[in-house]
Amino acid sequence: MKNNHLLPFKPFALLVLLLCITSYSYSQKPDYRYEVESLLSEMTLDEKIGQMNQLNFEGLNDELLQKVKRGEVGSLLNVTDTEVINILQKAAIENGNGIPLVIARDVIHGYKTIFPIPLGQAASFDPEVARIGACVAAAEASEHGIRWTFAPMIDIARDARWGRIAESLGEDPFLSALMGAAMVRGFQGEDLSLPNNIAACAKHFVGYGAAEGGRDYNSTSITPLALRNTYLPPFQKAIDEGVATVMTSFNDNDGIPTSGNSYLLKDVLRQEMEFRGVVVSDWNSVGEMITHGFAADGKDAAMLSANAGLDMEMNTELYVTHLKQLVQEGKVSVADIDNSVRYILQMKFRLGLFSNPYVKIKKTSVVYTDAHLQAAKEAALKSAILLKNENNTLPLKETQKIAVFGPMADAPYDQLGTWIFDGEANHTVTPIGALKSDKAYENIKFTYETALSPSLKDADVAVVFLGEESKLSGEASSLSDINLRGTQSALLKEIKATGKPVVLVIMAGRPLTIERDLPYADAVLYNFHPGTMGGPAILDLLFGRANPSGKLPVTFVREVGQIPLYYNHNNTGRPAPDNARTLNADTKDVKQTSVGDVSHYLDSGKGPLFPFGFGLSYSRFEYSELSLSSPTISMNDSLIVSVTLRNTSNIDGVEIAQLYVRDLVGSIIRPVKELKGFQRVSLNAGETKIVTFTLFSDDLAFYGIDLIRKAEPGFFDVWIGGDSKTSPDKKRFELK
Ligand code: NOJ
Repeated sequence: MKNNHLLPFKPFALLVLLLCITSYSYSQKPDYRYEVESLLSEMTLDEKIGQMNQLNFEGLNDELLQKVKRGEVGSLLNVTDTEVINILQKAAIENGNGIPLVIARDVIHGYKTIFPIPLGQAASFDPEVARIGACVAAAEASEHGIRWTFAPMIDIARDARWGRIAESLGEDPFLSALMGAAMVRGFQGEDLSLPNNIAACAKHFVGYGAAEGGRDYNSTSITPLALRNTYLPPFQKAIDEGVATVMTSFNDNDGIPTSGNSYLLKDVLRQEMEFRGVVVSDWNSVGEMITHGFAADGKDAAMLSANAGLDMEMNTELYVTHLKQLVQEGKVSVADIDNSVRYILQMKFRLGLFSNPYVKIKKTSVVYTDAHLQAAKEAALKSAILLKNENNTLPLKETQKIAVFGPMADAPYDQLGTWIFDGEANHTVTPIGALKSDKAYENIKFTYETALSPSLKDADVAVVFLGEESKLSGEASSLSDINLRGTQSALLKEIKATGKPVVLVIMAGRPLTIERDLPYADAVLYNFHPGTMGGPAILDLLFGRANPSGKLPVTFVREVGQIPLYYNHNNTGRPAPDNARTLNADTKDVKQTSVGDVSHYLDSGKGPLFPFGFGLSYSRFEYSELSLSSPTISMNDSLIVSVTLRNTSNIDGVEIAQLYVRDLVGSIIRPVKELKGFQRVSLNAGETKIVTFTLFSDDLAFYGIDLIRKAEPGFFDVWIGGDSKTSPDKKRFELK
């Protein structure tokens, strides 16, 4: 089986895609020190404070133009009309103090051409998917004058109730860090001053995904060690990649909102992590410190944030209203303000805005070019996860007559997923849309009904598209019940009762609790909302024109009550076997005893429904002969870990080989497994490859009891396998 989804590109589109697929390494960024210092030395305090103000665009009016002319605005978000951008820019440059505005917008997984939601992209375990997706988004958004996006979101998400898990890159710090850094590269490119590159924003600093109960905006209680070992690594990676900006989160951690937390912003972000870009607040997060009960009023909030080192305030205008007086009263220093303005001006220089402030209307638009659509399809193909495939129900044969059911079969808006301010449902290709009008599928015989119908009698197989509407995930869209909603499970059951083979295709913004649905599906293909080209991608996978290769970037729980459940947890002193389910009909006869008590739920056990890293293929892969280049590794040295990977099937495929380690004894308990490497390995039918990973001693480092990052000597177990649970073999080595 060969993937044949790469259709010929139009020459111009090819050029655009080439821009995205050229690989490079970062050169030293110019820091524009001279330009920044000379401009800063000429600015009044009012002008400086104006640069720290980001406003939401709510229409072009005289009040806004006057503010821009007076230099009271440094940035605007959500202006989408290029002519309006140019009018505002002219007001700033020709009629104001000459400092250009930077125009921002949430471009999260595509601007017009929508890629799979970030959680889906993470399932590809392919940083190139993330980089190309961001590069395409940057090209389309910058054409409309947007030069700053608020992505990637690199919050570790271990709670499927939290709606923003959709926007995350999953539960694992290592995977999130690599995918997030790839997005930064994609948005920013090699040279931010090129007009098709845009500034990225690593968000939300920090711990926003650890909201209590998975309820959005809720408090977190992250300890200093967990902060450094779990939540900060993706931010460090983004900073090392040169991310231009970082956004503070809404949540308070241990009683302190980040937007007013000078320890987190100055000591940790600036000093420990050496971030040298702009720190922007989240929407109204400065003002919300009053609601939290952390600031007494707007002036207090402005003081707390400015003193904490928050450079630009989004939306609330507390800085422009109060900072001058706070300086006069000696409560905020000019030195702190100068530092913030330095970062902001530097970003504007790096973006080339001083030399090219205006949006140039392009003769040929890059929006929805074939190359962009094909890249989106490729991403959707790589992001789908095959969770079940009994009796080789999939792939379907093109001669089979299919009866299509379910609300997600033709849901052009919902298929796009959350955060698509600019996505257009009329450009979405749904599965039904593709079956009806894409020549590539013209020979496939299908019927489509939203409810069970007699037409199923003549069909060979039922394909049922279920899932979530896009508005059920994303910001402020937390759920306490993450089952398939409404009558969807009942429909599936009814269809299964007909005796026809059933393929369940899910499109959702989170890992749903589908244990109760699994018995009614012979095969399950899971797609985190797959974007514009989800329809053809799914059809190619169903009919075996492409082979599923995605792996889960999050654990699937059996029951919502198991949350939080993640693979890289600490061991309790009483670990339970994974499937220790003990509540059954005999329970009433069991006497109370403490013997054999282990850490699990009586009703849902300890193990997940599907573990992190899990995903099937139409091929079968076999791992064997795990070996180490040496039984020991010295500090500052490395070790080669290799495994034989065999495709034992007669179908070509791609397997994502994953390397996990466990540090057996540490100054603090180390997780039972930690992902330290992964590779997408292509294997033809019957092919065998030796897959090797280089493990450096630094890969074993963590923040220990003394809060210092280092690898601790001792024994480690290592596995290579197709998910975080199963691998036939493990080896032990010693770090000396
Ligand atoms: C609030 C969200 O939390 C943040 O991620 C987003 O970038 C801003 N709003 C701006 O829209």
